[in-house]
Amino acid sequence: MRRPTRSRRDFLRDAVSLLAALPIVGWFLALTRSSIHSRIFSPVPLSVENNILTSGDLTDGAVVTAKSRDQTVFVVVDDQKIRALSARCPHMGCSLHWVSDKEQFSCGCHGAVFTKTGTRIEGPSSSDMTSLNVRISNDKIYLDGNL
Ligand code: FES
Repeated sequence: MRRPTRSRRDFLRDAVSLLAALPIVGWFLALTRSSIHSRIFSPVPLSVENNILTSGDLTDGAVVTAKSRDQTVFVVVDDQKIRALSARCPHMGCSLHWVSDKEQFSCGCHGAVFTKTGTRIEGPSSSDMTSLNVRISNDKIYLDGNL
């Protein structure tokens, strides 16, 4: 049985089509890369009930529960320093809660307890709460990097 052969004309037509598509593919890859890059590396504003968190919203000693890309973040002002802590327990990822009367974060899953600045006090977690980088620009509070 004889295999069908491609004519030289068909081959050249396909090659030209492929070459013509390269700029489109390159443009698409550049666009995707730029979008992914900005999504990963752009600072993300923290928000509380859909309002961007500003430094004016924070008083010394405050613990504010904020959101960043649907992730919960605790913004803590301690000694005039603003810090952000992930609300995910470092033990197994359950949600941490602020217990204001004890001035501690606690985890309902296995009982981990942390200080206001995220230092582990007790429980099964072997590490402190995850600290996140914060940036203030034009009075707005941004999270640098990913959660
Ligand atoms: S997940 Fe928080 S203590 Fe286990």
